[in-house]
Amino acid sequence: MIIFVFLFMSFILSCHSALNDSISIPVCPESFSCPNFAPFKYPFYSGTDARCGLINVNCTSTGGNILIGEPRYEIFGKYDSSSSVVIFNRTFEKLVNNESCEALMNNFTSPNPLLYSISITPFITLFKCTKNTSHAEATHAYFNQPNYKSHNTCTDYNFYYDYSVSNATAPSDLPHTCEVIQLPMIGGREYKLRNTTNIFSLLTHSFFISFSLTRSCEKCHNKGGRCHANKGQFQCLCDQRGIYFWTVYFVSC
Ligand SMILES: *[C@@H]1O[C@H](CO)[C@@H](O)[C@H](O)[C@H]1NC(C)=O
Ligand SMILES: *[C@@H]1O[C@H](CO)[C@@H](O)[C@H](O)[C@H]1NC(C)=O
Ligand SMILES: *[C@@H]1O[C@H](CO)[C@@H](O)[C@H](O)[C@H]1NC(C)=O
Ligand SMILES: *[C@@H]1O[C@H](CO)[C@@H](O)[C@H](O)[C@H]1NC(C)=O
Ligand SMILES: *[C@@H]1O[C@H](CO)[C@@H](O)[C@H](O)[C@H]1NC(C)=O
Ligand SMILES: *[C@@H]1O[C@H](CO)[C@@H](O)[C@H](O)[C@H]1NC(C)=O
Ligand SMILES: *[C@@H]1O[C@H](CO)[C@@H](O)[C@H](O)[C@H]1NC(C)=O
Ligand SMILES: *[C@@H]1O[C@H](CO)[C@@H](O)[C@H](O)[C@H]1NC(C)=O
Repeated sequence: MIIFVFLFMSFILSCHSALNDSISIPVCPESFSCPNFAPFKYPFYSGTDARCGLINVNCTSTGGNILIGEPRYEIFGKYDSSSSVVIFNRTFEKLVNNESCEALMNNFTSPNPLLYSISITPFITLFKCTKNTSHAEATHAYFNQPNYKSHNTCTDYNFYYDYSVSNATAPSDLPHTCEVIQLPMIGGREYKLRNTTNIFSLLTHSFFISFSLTRSCEKCHNKGGRCHANKGQFQCLCDQRGIYFWTVYFVSC
């Protein structure tokens, strides 16, 4: 009997130490609510314990704020329990109103994430091409197609966009001096009334932003775990109950 208990204990202990870094996560609420919005679930979390989720949201008396990267954004709306919210980007608003080239520089979506990717709706695809005199003619010729417009007054780049297919994907023969970026675009009905030759009149400061878990993160979450990035490495943190019911532990993470 003592031997059995001893074996049992050492088994538990060895599991415990082997899976050490995947154990200690706090008890996190399944969901939380802010005034006027649909409930928030993982990957959103509220408060200070970053182990509870990936994207921090704090409620305010009338709504909430969200951290995306460093700055904080005001949440404008949340209409269902999906991981999609409408945000208001005041920095972008200023740049667009000012018709500043800086408004056209950043990709609003993230291509190669470890834990989740960011997408926006609706968006416009912009081809951002370095101004290089040795490629100028070829690039200009490439975009000399029906429905393409350009914006040529920025210092280092020319921008091209097909206003008839706002969400175009990158063509495989895109000149190598060009990159693809996605920017938030005004909605369908409004869009028809705009001046399509002015790129700034097609952009908007408030838009849907959604967060999609990567496959490994999704898998981890479906098993009751929570994804975590540690020094560029993916980790799946497991639920605390795993410690007590070690059989569940192996099933769940
Ligand atoms: C277990 O956790 C301790 C303290 O957090 C750490 O020092 C140790 O390296 C961890 N062991 C493993 C196997 O992860
Ligand atoms: C939420 O509150 C915590 C603690 O006060 C703070 O560290 C964090 O930056 C806040 N996040 C947002 C999105 O306002
Ligand atoms: C807000 O706009 C700024 C300026 O274009 C941009 O750098 C930033 O990525 C935007 N943030 C979000 C969450 O869209
Ligand atoms: C708006 O544009 C003017 C002239 O280009 C510039 O001096 C000013 O700093 C800009 N303001 C903002 C908020 O970007
Ligand atoms: C911008 O994001 C889109 C969609 O994720 C991606 O296809 C594109 O390569 C990104 N562009 C840059 C310059 O990173
Ligand atoms: C312009 O293109 C040439 C030829 O591909 C390349 O050698 C050069 O570095 C480019 N210049 C700039 C400023 O990108
Ligand atoms: C582009 O928008 C159309 C119509 O809104 C939609 O059917 C299509 O799936 C979208 N394509 C991409 C790549 O988002
Ligand atoms: C549309 O925008 C372009 C570029 O800013 C401008 O030259 C043109 O006058 C505008 N057209 C109308 C009808 O406002």
